[in-house]
Amino acid sequence: MPEELIRRNRDWAARIESDNPDFFPRLAALQKPDYFWIGCADARVPANVVAGLEPGEVFVHRNVANVVHASDLNLLSALQFAIEGLGIRKVIVCGHYGCGGVRAACSDHHGHGLVDHWIAPIRALRHSHKGELSSLTPAERENLLVELNVRAGVDRIAETPILQDAWAAGLPVAVHGMVYSLADGILSQLEGATRVA
Ligand code: CO
Repeated sequence: MPEELIRRNRDWAARIESDNPDFFPRLAALQKPDYFWIGCADARVPANVVAGLEPGEVFVHRNVANVVHASDLNLLSALQFAIEGLGIRKVIVCGHYGCGGVRAACSDHHGHGLVDHWIAPIRALRHSHKGELSSLTPAERENLLVELNVRAGVDRIAETPILQDAWAAGLPVAVHGMVYSLADGILSQLEGATRVA
């Protein structure tokens, strides 16, 4: 119900205003986030909340299963604006264990409409890592595929002309792969999944 959202909004705005009267005027005047977050659209993984950040502290792009498609104009334009417009130097690709998109990519059942097209790169990862995945339990396989999808996303971001140009210009931009656990709320950095100039 929109009425419910409006009521909650009024409560929230009043609470912020009373705790910190400077909050809205300050944010209205300037957007200066430190992070660009590329994450899953899953309702349980809101960037600000799980990273403990306030409004204004993170610029966000989310899609089903945090897939980085090299031709996704939505993601690429947000990435370019993040780096060139907002001056962001920390890009995060964050996946999460228990991701429904990754789970769907673990099976050959195609019953998800357009989502099947969207997650095709994750299915491709599953096929290219067949050997490694075959010795695992279904749960371990899903978790590893979550991590492989993040690593592939980091690499794809690093290969964009946007990052290549930023690095060629000497900008200290870093791309970090991270993973979030729905089970305990813990965000971790994926080892070896950081790309710098
Ligand atoms: Co997900």
